Amino acid sequence: MNKITSQTPSIIAIDGPAASGKSTIGLRLANALDYIFFDTGVMYRAITWLALERGIDVREEDAITALAEETQIDVEPASKSDGRACDVLVDGSDITWETRSRSVDENVSIVAAYPGVRKALSRQQRRIGQRGKIVMVGRDIGTVVLPDADLKIYLDATAEERARRRYDEIIARNGKANYDAILKRVIERDRIDSTRNVAPLKAAEDAIVLDSDKLTADEVFEQILALVK
Ligand code: CDP
Repeated sequence: MNKITSQTPSIIAIDGPAASGKSTIGLRLANALDYIFFDTGVMYRAITWLALERGIDVREEDAITALAEETQIDVEPASKSDGRACDVLVDGSDITWETRSRSVDENVSIVAAYPGVRKALSRQQRRIGQRGKIVMVGRDIGTVVLPDADLKIYLDATAEERARRRYDEIIARNGKANYDAILKRVIERDRIDSTRNVAPLKAAEDAIVLDSDKLTADEVFEQILALVK
């Protein structure tokens, strides 16, 4: 549907705070362009899940860093149509839905603030991203992982709107959710993500900032598609 020309950006970075719609839009865009979709957040989630699974305290920075250095995480195109954007495999096992659990949500930003964890995961992300024809989403793609990306988008929305979207998503999947608890987790994750010393969440100077508060997913998608063409 979308004609790819030599001017079409090859590396597209979409950054932004929790639940701003990066994954939904990123996946749609990648499908429209026939590009790879890579949600880098799932790597931080996978390490967090593994630490919790093994009973490692997330405050033990050295143990968590070692885990990030030695674990093989694979992010592959979705093998099932159960709402997932991609498959997340750790040492060969499918842990896609485990990475979306509440306990991972509550601990992932602590894990993602460790410099050693970021170093190990960013290295893998950069290697994958540099191959091009890719839509990569995260917090630091345009600023740190791939500062030379051809197009950088920073997708924003108020915490209340983002919590409402995450609430709807969880209701659709599980049937029950608590809006106030979700809003609290979104705000806390944003706080940790944007105040950490290494690669804090912020828009790159050359990023196009899109405030999606009053836009539908379709409208956000159309606006980004117009920037790509
Ligand atoms: O989907 P959602 O916006 O809720 O979060 P995510 O993209 O899955 O990312 C989960 C967490 O991983 C974030 O809150 C960050 O702490 C961390 N993250 C990061 O530090 N750098 C990235 N490039 C991607 C995620």
